[in-house]
Amino acid sequence: MAKLTVKDMDFKGKIVIMRVDFNVPLDKKTGDITDDTRIKEAMPTIKYVLEKGAKKLILMSHLGRPDGKVVDSLRMNPVAKKLSQILGEDVEKLDDCVGDEIKKKIDASPKKVILLENLRFHAEEEAGDEKFAKQLASLADIYVNDAFGTAHRAHASTTVIAKFLPACLGFLIEKEVKYLSSALSPQKPYVVILGGAKVSDKIDVISSLMQRADKFLIGGAMAYTFLKSKGEDVGASRVEADKLDVARDILKKAESKKIKIVLPIDHLVIDNLENPKVKNIVDKIPAGFLGVDIGPKTVELFKKELSDAKTVLWNGPVGIFEKDDYAKGTEALAKCLADLKQATVIVGGGDSASAAKKFKVADKLSHVSTGGGASLEFLEGKALPGIAIIPDKK
Ligand code: 3PG
Repeated sequence: MAKLTVKDMDFKGKIVIMRVDFNVPLDKKTGDITDDTRIKEAMPTIKYVLEKGAKKLILMSHLGRPDGKVVDSLRMNPVAKKLSQILGEDVEKLDDCVGDEIKKKIDASPKKVILLENLRFHAEEEAGDEKFAKQLASLADIYVNDAFGTAHRAHASTTVIAKFLPACLGFLIEKEVKYLSSALSPQKPYVVILGGAKVSDKIDVISSLMQRADKFLIGGAMAYTFLKSKGEDVGASRVEADKLDVARDILKKAESKKIKIVLPIDHLVIDNLENPKVKNIVDKIPAGFLGVDIGPKTVELFKKELSDAKTVLWNGPVGIFEKDDYAKGTEALAKCLADLKQATVIVGGGDSASAAKKFKVADKLSHVSTGGGASLEFLEGKALPGIAIIPDKK
């Protein structure tokens, strides 16, 4: 059943409170925003609400994980600055998010768009506290949730608040649900590329995707756990020793279901991560060496396996792509995906979204999700609480 969206609401003369996911990456030294995609992706809903005559628009988000305490480096000030630039009008940034003072400041502000302080400075946010949610609700007449990246969290501002105000979804959540749903009922062949560090992060998603996918291409550090579980030597590569049984079970289950799992057949290896002196492409990882990227034969193999795909889901880089020396595999994969004209290609957020951006292919892919954890939970077939709480269309 479809959920209410901004198109179903009358915003004229109303104060609107909107949950956005402005949890953007910050430069550790300067505190500057290094990727503003999440702010830009919230713009269609922000502009729509303003165009439809809202009296005021209050935006709220978390930033990082301050654990219920005020952490100065996680204040929303850089976000307010970037938001004002992108929106083309000054945004009023407040130093807290609830209470009489905040209410007064919102009423008194000559500015139309208000940005509240980091919600997670209050422990009640993550606890899903009803009183805190009611305090947030008391600031406005209508609640909009457009924070796809946080829709898997049942927090006060993402879920509980919807009990206390007329509530609807924004365009970003609508778009995410539309594209990610296509991976729940995919056109075949459906190929899933999984990478990243840990098998443990992806176990649920692998099990759930096995019901739909025809093929898994596995790279990144998680591939070494799979290779080791098959008895291959992986040298000093990162392995989750306590997940070898899980990896073995997944391989067995895939075989019995006739699902192909493709693992790397060559690797870029180095002698140590901190101060590498030797760097080689090898088929078998020698003792003392660790894999940091897939090798060229694996790139070709993955390309071949992708050539007839109609749906592709990519979650997780296949090497340490943040370092240019170890980025070739992920770059080649990203470019290959951009060239797959016949397939719907979905990037499931997080690091793979950053990789798609770094290698300038994001706008050539069908959909790059703004949610890391949220997109994975969605693809596992779980209902996301921030979406589930919104009333259905009549
Ligand atoms: C994310 O970046 O995945 C979201 O903003 C959620 O953040 P969290 O994992 O700290 O809840």
